[in-house]
Amino acid sequence: KGFETVIHGGTVVTASEVFRADIGIADGRIAAVAETIAGGETRIDASGKLVMPGGIEAHCHIAQESSSKIMTADDYRSGSISAAFGGHSCFVPFAAQHRGQSIDDVIATYDSRAEGNAVIDYSYHLIISDPSPEVLEVGLPRAFARGITSFKVFMTYDLMNIGDGGMLDIMTVAKQNGAITMVHAENNDMVKWMNRRLAAAGLTQPRYHAISRPALAEEEAIGRAVALAKLVDAPLFVVHCSTAEGATLIQRERLRGVKLFSETCPQYLALTREALDRPGMEGAKFMCSPPVRDSATQEALWRHVASGTFASVSSDHAPYRFDATGKFANGTEAPYPKIANGMPGIGMRLPWLFSEGVSKGRITLPQFVQLSSSNAARIFGLDRKGAIAPGFDADIAIWNPRETRKATLADQHDNMDYTPFEGMEITGWPETVLSRGAVVVHQGALRAEPGRGRFVARRRVDLTGMPGYRAPELDPARNFGAEIAP
Ligand code: URP
Ligand code: ZN
Ligand code: ZN
Ligand code: ZN
Repeated sequence: KGFETVIHGGTVVTASEVFRADIGIADGRIAAVAETIAGGETRIDASGKLVMPGGIEAHCHIAQESSSKIMTADDYRSGSISAAFGGHSCFVPFAAQHRGQSIDDVIATYDSRAEGNAVIDYSYHLIISDPSPEVLEVGLPRAFARGITSFKVFMTYDLMNIGDGGMLDIMTVAKQNGAITMVHAENNDMVKWMNRRLAAAGLTQPRYHAISRPALAEEEAIGRAVALAKLVDAPLFVVHCSTAEGATLIQRERLRGVKLFSETCPQYLALTREALDRPGMEGAKFMCSPPVRDSATQEALWRHVASGTFASVSSDHAPYRFDATGKFANGTEAPYPKIANGMPGIGMRLPWLFSEGVSKGRITLPQFVQLSSSNAARIFGLDRKGAIAPGFDADIAIWNPRETRKATLADQHDNMDYTPFEGMEITGWPETVLSRGAVVVHQGALRAEPGRGRFVARRRVDLTGMPGYRAPELDPARNFGAEIAP
């Protein structure tokens, strides 16, 4: 049987190599990788181009209400289309539990939002805001059985944070089922104390959002989350690390063998808190949590990207429009604590990372593949994605590494009315994106029907090379707390 599609003449980039090869696709999978492949019902000319695993966006908020019930501007249709134009062939948004809601109900809600809409494959990370016995004993094991093998918890936001004990409970269940816990790490009481002081002084403009969430609040919370994960020797993924101190702490614990992963985001590498000083309410466009910091932090975070502290650079796409449906749902003069946190970026994540990372010589092409796709696939159990090798899904992005143009809102194909990347000069853009062998985007045109994207059931995290840490008190080998060790 022949190939449906052959991609020929391109330079293939994997997580470890760069080489000239053609790719043969059959039944939506990569069937052959060889110097020259003849035939193919469709032949795609990739000469002068880079052929890479399609991006996997593992941190994005799609068709999700904020903790104060403001709906994101992007749903599974516009969000997946924007992702595909930006070089992705898979994304993993969050399915968020409201307190009191059953996990079955959460999953059913997000299934109904996703079905018939996505143009690329998807899965969910569950957000747990209410770790009741029913959730821990029934809900989460049922979620694993469906292939949802990651949960996110919050250490901040009054309506979301579950306390240290709740985190230990979730980490323990995650460990027993082969899942990973993700954490948004900021000390809630530090932020609330800062909010009270700022409010008392009448300082409520967007710029004070950055001041209200100090670097120390992140550093403290990351340290605490890691300590909790060590007590139960469970894997942990620290999302959107924004500080040098946090990154250094993560690097040190990884060197000790702790089962610890992390990511940073383009906004922390590209923007500084001066962006929030723009006149009027413009600064609200750049409000996200944790906040963007300063140029010294950017340099430190780049060194952590280059040296492997971070598994991925994720967008944290949290699209709230600059109008009454989004940022100003509580009025155009709302004080910063009542303005939705988050900024869009799923369409710019990869072009921006390619341009600032690869084109400027900060990271290698294989590192780009690791940070954009392959690491997320291994950590989050997408076992058929994130590689160019026989047997894997033909989820492939073909990039023109030389094309230079300025980022515009129109390029994003999302449902937003601004992009924080507006006007930035970007060298390196995706040209063609395939999902299970089908062309989804080609030269600026959408070629796929919404609904072709499928839910992907995931496996367990790959913890190879991470011995972990056993708290002596819970180490069965030492027989102290053997009876209660997770
Ligand atoms: O500011 C952000 N990142 N908003 C999205 C919600 C969250 O904190 O993850
Ligand atoms: Zn050829
Ligand atoms: Zn977060
Ligand atoms: Zn987020």
